[in-house]
Amino acid sequence: MVGIELYRVTVSQLATNCYILKQKRTRNALVIDPGADYGKIKEKLDSINAACKVILLTHGHFDHIFAVDDLRNKLTRVGIYKDDEHMLYEKDVFSTMVPYDPRPLYPADVVFDHEGRYKIDEFEFNVIHTPGHTRGSCVYVFEDCMFTGDTLFRGAAGTVLFGGDEDELNESLRRLYNYPGDYAVFPGHDAPTTLSDERESNPYMRRFKR
Ligand SMILES: [Fe+2]
Repeated sequence: MVGIELYRVTVSQLATNCYILKQKRTRNALVIDPGADYGKIKEKLDSINAACKVILLTHGHFDHIFAVDDLRNKLTRVGIYKDDEHMLYEKDVFSTMVPYDPRPLYPADVVFDHEGRYKIDEFEFNVIHTPGHTRGSCVYVFEDCMFTGDTLFRGAAGTVLFGGDEDELNESLRRLYNYPGDYAVFPGHDAPTTLSDERESNPYMRRFKR
């Protein structure tokens, strides 16, 4: 990503990847999936001298969203895909897994209602709607980097056990398989990878090979 520095902070008891994209020029930051551990994220932002201006959520599961309200201020803009917007407000089965459920959270500022290109502040990116893990799961694409949430992992794919749909997930993975070009892939858990590696070696992807 030209002009952007990328950092990863691991948050929550599920070791969720929270990513920080910092504009070198302005020091403004976009944070993807602040799921927990606000203190850890803030410490990272402070250490790199960045201010959080945008928060993007790949989906509405608790380990990706619970630190949103701690992190945001009046100037921060929060984006989520429309089919997961309700997860900012409604408690679900996950509430029993964590000591404290902060929902209802404040409303999102930007609700993505279609795929395509968006610009929030100085950050430009593409949104791909990838339902399956949740109905409103999406992938954010910044230049040559793809943030895949819990849809695509290195060597694996997201589960459909928590409110997901297997047919939808398969269709989303097929679309990612056929997404033109190669990308660095930064998933919601575990290590980064590339789309070409996943097309070759991920059992959930390589079955789409013709
Ligand atoms: Fe998830």
